[in-house]
Amino acid sequence: MRSAEITGWGKCMPPNVLSNHDLEQLVDTSDEWITTRTGIKERRISHVEASELAAVAGLRALAAAGKSPEDVDLLLVATCSGDSIIPSTASVVQKHMQAWNAAAMDLNAACSGFVYGLVVGTNMIRGGTHQTVLLVGTEKLHHLMDFTDRNTCVLFGDGAGAVVLEATDGEIGLLASDLGMDGSVGHILEVPVDGTMGDRGELNPRHCGITMEGQEVFKRAVTKMGESAARSLEKAGIALEDVALLIPHQANVRIIDATARRLGLDEGKVYVNIHSYGNTSAATIPVALTEALEEGRISAGDIVLFAAFGGGLTWGSAVYRWGARTEPLDESDAELPPPDRDTMELLRPNFDFFGLPEKLS
Ligand code: ACO
Repeated sequence: MRSAEITGWGKCMPPNVLSNHDLEQLVDTSDEWITTRTGIKERRISHVEASELAAVAGLRALAAAGKSPEDVDLLLVATCSGDSIIPSTASVVQKHMQAWNAAAMDLNAACSGFVYGLVVGTNMIRGGTHQTVLLVGTEKLHHLMDFTDRNTCVLFGDGAGAVVLEATDGEIGLLASDLGMDGSVGHILEVPVDGTMGDRGELNPRHCGITMEGQEVFKRAVTKMGESAARSLEKAGIALEDVALLIPHQANVRIIDATARRLGLDEGKVYVNIHSYGNTSAATIPVALTEALEEGRISAGDIVLFAAFGGGLTWGSAVYRWGARTEPLDESDAELPPPDRDTMELLRPNFDFFGLPEKLS
């Protein structure tokens, strides 16, 4: 049966680092609190837009697949912190990459965006309308971070990851998936502005950043990710012991641990890199997948389980059988321009807009 195989992978993490110790200089928090409550040690702050991160990650993924931008016939950009509403971020990424043969669109399922995109891209290939899909998860979340709110400003970071999906007749690729949404509780994690419901005459900075009922999100993330992953495994007819690696959305290491426990999965089979990057929303899974491959954590024929949860509230999971190749075919020389400002200078517009962090005021 025609399916879609991941033939290329890549990431682009901006170089500026914001560590927990840096945050201690801004808000009433501590490295110890952030580490024990979330698992995060540092995150990246981007000096470029999400589209530029996406283009570099995409070019690296294409090189790994031995493909060029002209080969892409569908570009899917999963993001909730893209450059603009019109044109779409996908439009800007197409321009940066010169992927002129690609249809292109954004996909906003927040942190579940990559899993949603994997299902959409695979089914476009299965349906026969497309042959080569570039799926990118990219975020510049620091734009939405209010450093007067210690509940949220320690959690998020910027970055991009990408995969190339190509048509295959092999018994590989997506074996089963499960996607879901509960819009009735969408308000527990939100960024209200940039939509049509805001009153433009009374723009309130409080409505321009990420607000969240952390404990509610936490509880629902553990339940929904676990249930969804179990449903996907059942649909695929794959036993838990046959899963080689779970690559979960990286929002909080305690959510990841609780999800793995709920499933009954050994912690050695769970990929975690949240300590380095924090929550980069749609980018966490493709970045983690790229690093897992680089570290030799995935072998030919392995069953990889993806699971995510995010704003909406969305969730999704996918059971994927890896193909024969775990090494890139080629390397791209695509790079970001070097930053011209340090991390604190990059955060200055946030301080000006949302207000000075407690320790700077
Ligand atoms: N530093 C120090 N103390 C803090 C901080 C901080 N950065 N943030 C909150 N606290 C305080 C609170 O004020 C509270 O103090 P109080 O008891 O005096 O009122 C105390 O710590 C405990 O707060 P809780 O909210 O109970 O802490 P909790 O253990 O639930 O952890 C957290 C908070 C990390 C936000 C957790 O709830 C969580 O991870 N939730 C899920 C968040 C998430 O994953 N969101 C994104 C998912 S969707 C997406 O990715 C878009």
